[in-house]
Amino acid sequence: MSKKYHIHTFGCQMNVHDSEKIAGIFSESGFNGSEDSKDADVIVLNTCSIREKAEQKFFSELGRLKKIKQQKPDLKIAVAGCIAQQKGKEIFRKYPYVDFIFGPNNIDNLQKWIENGNSQKTAVLENPEYHTKILPMKRVGRVKAWVSIMYGCNNFCAYCIVPYTRGRERSRSPEDICKEIEALANQGFVEVTLLGQNVNSYGKTLEENIDFPDLLSTIHDIEKIQRIRFVTSHPRDFSEKLINTMKDLPKVCKHLHLPVQSGSDSVLKAMNRGYTYNEYKKKIDLLKESIPDVAITSDIIAGFPGETEEDFEQTMTALSEIEYDGIFSFKYSRRPGTKALDMPDHIDEDIKSRRLSDILKLQESVTFRKNKALEGESLEILVESKSGTDPDKMTGRTGNNKIINFYGDNEDIGKIIQVKIIKARMHSLDGEKI
Ligand code: 5AD
Ligand code: SF4
Repeated sequence: MSKKYHIHTFGCQMNVHDSEKIAGIFSESGFNGSEDSKDADVIVLNTCSIREKAEQKFFSELGRLKKIKQQKPDLKIAVAGCIAQQKGKEIFRKYPYVDFIFGPNNIDNLQKWIENGNSQKTAVLENPEYHTKILPMKRVGRVKAWVSIMYGCNNFCAYCIVPYTRGRERSRSPEDICKEIEALANQGFVEVTLLGQNVNSYGKTLEENIDFPDLLSTIHDIEKIQRIRFVTSHPRDFSEKLINTMKDLPKVCKHLHLPVQSGSDSVLKAMNRGYTYNEYKKKIDLLKESIPDVAITSDIIAGFPGETEEDFEQTMTALSEIEYDGIFSFKYSRRPGTKALDMPDHIDEDIKSRRLSDILKLQESVTFRKNKALEGESLEILVESKSGTDPDKMTGRTGNNKIINFYGDNEDIGKIIQVKIIKARMHSLDGEKI
């Protein structure tokens, strides 16, 4: 009987996609996937260290696995992802029952570990050619797929751990990216989301002269792909050329995730973001002018060190002025090794909580008002899967990323259809097929 693997993924889309690569390697080595960790011969924890909470969740899961391993000594435990990269040695010291540790730039080393067993314990090494390697993938879903276009980040925002865990920025070649997308198209996928920490600086590490808008144009020519999305954009590098490319290429979805982080110039400076609020706002205004139905989303950090009540009010003003379609907002979380950790005037936890709750309340009213305005409209959606909440319903997304649930059947999956919006909710819309 073939052996089974189970992957527990923490954190962002980047990690979810890395888990598809991990699953691909196990599959190629003859393992079967298991939804239930109890059945597994190997458990991989693919970890996230962006905020303290994500780390705590991982460590409590790792503690729980100790008991399971005591009952099942043959079980192998691997720790992957950003915590593995940063705290590999410490994990071995404190949790000696862990068998293998590998960082986000060493997923290719999993193959060797599977073949050689315990002769290899760690892979958190420099792997300068990682971005040129073609890894097998076992993808979640069959309609939309993630495609990494670059790895790492060079920005060193003062709060962020990512440059320390995922290393320096490296772009994959356009040939490798297009080959991957062509293969996806041939397998029936119709939507791709291009992934990178800062897709706007795509191409800077390549010899050939290509930037992100050029890459979008090349991908746009791949026939059976109907929709192209991308995350994440950095406001400093977001260009007028990209606005024009988004406008001119019909398959590029009219949704931009452009994290502002704060509406205060002094906080933005301390964060090392490289733009002022006005510079950001000008780009947003130009984007809205060029593409009136564009949806814009953002990330906001509440209570960055030194953030005064006045700074916080400027973030609230920014939210009112820009009227995002949605945001992700987080309390600032201390990350060892980052610049912000040593900054003066860390904000009390209760003030951070209050600011976060005010931000969310304000945004909820904007999001709901925007959703409400769509009632009665007829919209085009790509049907993705069965709805997670109602077994009789299907779920799909508009190009500008609104989630629509409607009564339909499995036959609709992968099709682009029209729906009429009948009811607005906070995070989704109810529709009916027309
Ligand atoms: N504390 C809170 N939020 C953070 N983010 C990144 N690092 C931190 C941190 N230390 C947020 C940023 C980023 C998103 C992915 O996570 O808003 O855009
Ligand atoms: Fe972190 Fe800033 Fe890089 Fe985003 S751009 S991954 S927030 S350092």
